[in-house]
Amino acid sequence: MSAQPVASTAATPNDLVLDVRDITLRFGGLTSLDKVSLTHTRGEVLSVIGPNGAGKTSLFNCLTGVYFPQEGEVRFYPEAGVERSVLGRKPYAVNRLGIARTFQNIRLFNALTALENVKIGIESRQKTGPIGAMLHMPWNRREERESDAEAFRLLEFVGLTKRANEVSSSLPYGDQRRLEIARALGTRPQLLLLDEPAAGTNPAEKRQLEVLIRAIAETGISVLLIEHDMKLVMSVATNVVVLNFGQVIASGTPKEIQRDPSVVEAYLGSGDEADSAAVPRKAAKKAPAKQPPATRTED
Ligand SMILES: Nc1ncnc2c1ncn2[C@@H]1O[C@H](COP(=O)(O)OP(=O)(O)OP(=O)(O)O)[C@@H](O)[C@H]1O
Ligand SMILES: [Mg+2]
Repeated sequence: MSAQPVASTAATPNDLVLDVRDITLRFGGLTSLDKVSLTHTRGEVLSVIGPNGAGKTSLFNCLTGVYFPQEGEVRFYPEAGVERSVLGRKPYAVNRLGIARTFQNIRLFNALTALENVKIGIESRQKTGPIGAMLHMPWNRREERESDAEAFRLLEFVGLTKRANEVSSSLPYGDQRRLEIARALGTRPQLLLLDEPAAGTNPAEKRQLEVLIRAIAETGISVLLIEHDMKLVMSVATNVVVLNFGQVIASGTPKEIQRDPSVVEAYLGSGDEADSAAVPRKAAKKAPAKQPPATRTED
């Protein structure tokens, strides 16, 4: 993981990359996000945690143009001094602003090779459209060469050089997760959203992911990380925001969060109410999410 990727803007310490203010998202009678606010400092890894159904993926969907919340504002700062409003833009337009994501359920082009998957990310920001490609214009050939070189660089960065020509569906799960990250990096984001990148991976793959997330942040790209694996969160996150029932119930450093009684209660439910509504919704579906963050290691 030595090759340099992507960040086109050097990180400026302590400036804001994202400012989410009072986002409220409702589906009929269900409030999925309830006045959620958070700020994210450029170049840092901010982790969003919470029990199943807490609203984590809904938040990502609001930040990437998939959902349009009924209330609130999202401001993105691709570089210091440049402010962009995110809400109301379509997903491709949000990506063009400099926000890329991966998905809770991996979304790769299964029939394409690892290299081709990464090239799709890269080519989404190039100027050649299908007609230019058919006509083999000079700039098209140059872009094709550049895109090949960049895709190889990104595969090297995520540790998948040897897999370049393998069909993505044949790759081990952890490799597919890192390939999805490489594809997202191909769009040259300033902010990268990762939705449970360690889900389904083995301990060795989790360690690779840990190294990779740190390496991404070191290039100046800000990372917003949804993750249930608390060992990973505690080791890579600079700060943590905890959601429960669509509300922010705590935020702080990983150590502060581990000690926060409201966080422990959100994961466990309080003793005498453990079989009632105090247990986070859906928590019973995925039992491990009910463990307190301080103790959940998974390997
Ligand atoms: N398109 C939708 N229509 C209706 N309800 C939705 C929709 N998307 C999300 N929700 C609801 O919003 C709530 C939050 O869901 P979300 O997927 O954001 O949770 P999560 O924190 O990502 O959970 P998990 O850890 O299981 O991935 C859930 O009750 C979910 O059913
Ligand atoms: Mg989710």
